[in-house]
Formats: sequence, structure tokens, C-alpha cells
Amino acid sequence: MRVSFVCLGNICRSPMAAAVMAHRAAEAGVPVQVDSAGTAGWHIGEPADPRTAAELRRRGVALTHAARQFAAADFARFDLVLAMDADNARNLRRLAPSAHDAAKVRLLREFDAASHDGDRDVPDPYYGGDDGFRRVFEMVDAACLGLLETLRTR
Ligand code: 4NP
Repeated sequence: MRVSFVCLGNICRSPMAAAVMAHRAAEAGVPVQVDSAGTAGWHIGEPADPRTAAELRRRGVALTHAARQFAAADFARFDLVLAMDADNARNLRRLAPSAHDAAKVRLLREFDAASHDGDRDVPDPYYGGDDGFRRVFEMVDAACLGLLETLRTR
């Protein structure tokens, strides 16, 4: 299974989601290839936001990251493309070369059984404080555990 996590800038949410999923999958012994990218290209080549890095360090989750922009050709490389919010999902579906590729786009939080229709965005923490990054970690971790369960039972 090859999964790409996608947000806007690829420095806050999606690098955190990819790192958490890699950590949880390794812990569970489930083979998953993870990647992350942004729909925007503003931060290409940059490391993760220091607040994402700090939150992951605090949780004992390893991170190596250089930001990149999701390209149409990337769809061929992944089974699932998990958007952090509805805007990201819309932009990804618009970019998809085929209906088959567009169908790979899902919201990450769909995999959190405790989440609800209409409230499935991982909110952009970029302009907020550290508590936003803590919240993102908790949302992403719950969804990654659900995703892991889905992958395990399929
Ligand atoms: P991310 O957060 O999409 O979770 O990486 C953002 C990072 C940068 C910007 C916006 C959101 N920005 O406007 O530069």
C-alpha cells in the first residue's frame, strides 16, 4: 500500500501525518509506503515547520522531510491520496488525470470512526499557536490508527 498525505504547504499537517503513519505502521508491523506533498509550491525544499518538528519530537515520532508539491504524475505512484481538508481534496481531484485517480483522493479523517460528516478537516495550524499543532497531532494520530486498521483487515 502506497499512501500520500497532502496539505497546502507540505510543512505542517501532511509531514506530521506521514511521520505518524510511518511510526504507527512500523509499530504494528504493517507494510505501508508513506509520502507527503502540498497542493501549493511555496515551501518546496524546506524542512517541516519547527512547530511540527517540536510536536513530533515531544511524541517520540521520527521525522525527515523536504517539502514538495503534488504533481498530476504522482497519482500513478499511490493507491491512496489523503487530503487534510476539503480544499486540498478539491484541488487534488481537479489535478487528477483520470476518474480512477480522482477516486484515490479521500479525506484523512474519513478513517477516524469518531469523526463526522461535515467535520472532517484537519484545520490549518500555520497561523495559530502551539496548541493547534497538538490538536493536529491528535486528529492525525486517531485517523492513522483507523487507516491502519482498514489496511490490516482488507
Ligand atoms: P500546511 O500549513 O498546509 O499544513 O503545511 C501551511 C503552511 C504554509 C502556509 C499555509 C499553510 N502558507 O501560507 O505559507
